[in-house]
Amino acid sequence: MKSIKVGLLGIGTVGSGTFNVLKRNQEEIARRAGRGIEITMVADLNTERATELTNGQVKVVNDANLVVDSPDIDIVIELIGGYGLAKDLVLKAIANGKHVVTANKALIATHGNEIFKAAQEKGVMVAFEAAVAGGIPIIKALREGLTANRIQWIAGIINGTTNFILSEMRDKGLDFDVVLKEAQRLGYAEADPTFDIEGVDAAHKLTIMASIAFGIPVQFDKAHVEGITKLQATDIRYAEQLGYRIKLLGITRQTAKGIELRVHPTLIPSGRLIANVEGAMNAVMVRGDAVGETLYYGKGAGSEPTASAVIADLVDITRLATADPEHRVPYLAFQPHAMADTPVLPIQDVTTSYYLRMHVADKPGVLADVTRILADSSISIDAMLQKEPSEGETQTDIIMLTHQTLERNIEAAIAKIEALPTVMGSVMKIRLEELS
Ligand code: NDP
Ligand code: HSE
Repeated sequence: MKSIKVGLLGIGTVGSGTFNVLKRNQEEIARRAGRGIEITMVADLNTERATELTNGQVKVVNDANLVVDSPDIDIVIELIGGYGLAKDLVLKAIANGKHVVTANKALIATHGNEIFKAAQEKGVMVAFEAAVAGGIPIIKALREGLTANRIQWIAGIINGTTNFILSEMRDKGLDFDVVLKEAQRLGYAEADPTFDIEGVDAAHKLTIMASIAFGIPVQFDKAHVEGITKLQATDIRYAEQLGYRIKLLGITRQTAKGIELRVHPTLIPSGRLIANVEGAMNAVMVRGDAVGETLYYGKGAGSEPTASAVIADLVDITRLATADPEHRVPYLAFQPHAMADTPVLPIQDVTTSYYLRMHVADKPGVLADVTRILADSSISIDAMLQKEPSEGETQTDIIMLTHQTLERNIEAAIAKIEALPTVMGSVMKIRLEELS
């Protein structure tokens, strides 16, 4: 049978991995797909490098429109990134009746609804396994493997760059900037690394998983996003003393009122498997009502791990090339007419536990004032640590772990605590999840 012809847009980190793995494993992949899969056209701004990377074996152009307009191409892989040109190219490829594979979580999380609608109308596939957690097949697990379940919550370490930074800072005492540069050199970081460190990349991925888990349209604009830039080494140390690790976690949970959708640094009990996910590795925990808790672990970034997911999508599309569009696995797992309008909750309506660190005057009565404010707000304390002030010091740190409470309650209590004359500066608040 004739091989499937693929056009590649962007042969950078993921594009070159995709080309190499497809070439290296072509026979095995063809046996699985039922047909050969061949990249026959590549678009990249740097045509010289693209020709070198493809050993002069494919047609290289510098205008990506030539690929999406080519009648010889069956599937377009978008690996340019961003949501300007990438969006135009993906929509044009769909309009031209081509299936699309992309690793572009920013594009899917912000323009997914429009893209899926266009693809549905044209009867083509848009596949994006590589967009979430790189090489981990989490989209397939959520959309197909766990399809019997009501998903209750998902909690994931879904940004390799920030996990790498937190691990290296803790283990090797390296500076933030040094580790970030290393993550960029290793190809983990986004073109704009603020997307990584400010939590935006993780929120893109979480938005996509929430849609698939709960059958809601993609709504990145409703996500609560906090990165790791405000974290201090001192909080990492205190958390360890209390038996917790701090991770940048993406959490989405179905509640009676709506859906939580939030990314922020989070304390996790250090005995949990997910707390021990280090370096650029990713892990996603999913709790379903039938299956209970499941954990997916692997490389969330990098050239060939991400290529692994891109090629899995190519194989899926190749297998479905002759199938009736009505009987394909839906883009967001739920049939388009069966999408729900469950609201995504604002962060003030989220219930969780908290780590609080406050810098206080070392005077009698300070602790009583703080605990009274918390008690008046019906917030109970789970654990407490008070640092002995060093010789000659008149101020010290108090660290508290609270039981679960509403975000709006803790915010109100923090405002009162910060107003106490004995409390210096602002209170550091980090959310805590037992994940049980
Ligand atoms: P790179 O920057 O390494 O690669 C992008 C490539 O696209 C570059 O070769 C670039 O060329 C080329 N390009 C830029 N503009 C154009 C254009 N107008 N026409 C044709 N080619 C163009 O990015 P990555 O491979 O890291 O990422 C690609 C996508 O995959 C992104 O959406 C990213 O978020 C996603 N992703 C990345 C992962 C990773 O580990 N890196 C993991 C999972 C997803 P030039 O260099 O000359 O500008
Ligand atoms: N910048 C991303 C990360 C790449 O660090 O996880 C993978 O999506």
